[in-house]
Amino acid sequence: MYICICNAVTDSQIKQCVTQGAKSLRDLNKEFCIADQCGKCACAAKKVIKSQINTISL
Ligand code: FES
Repeated sequence: MYICICNAVTDSQIKQCVTQGAKSLRDLNKEFCIADQCGKCACAAKKVIKSQINTISL
């Protein structure tokens, strides 16, 4: 599912990035330029990050 329409970033890409060490929206922005245009994806992206961090730490 697309999280950032402007940059065509999916939840799978975000999850993989978190698995590889990303911890924040800033980290994702460096990788995918996520939330650098309309910004509407920021909230959904943060939720995916949080969820994936919780999954990893289980
Ligand atoms: S949807 Fe991510 S910047 Fe617009």
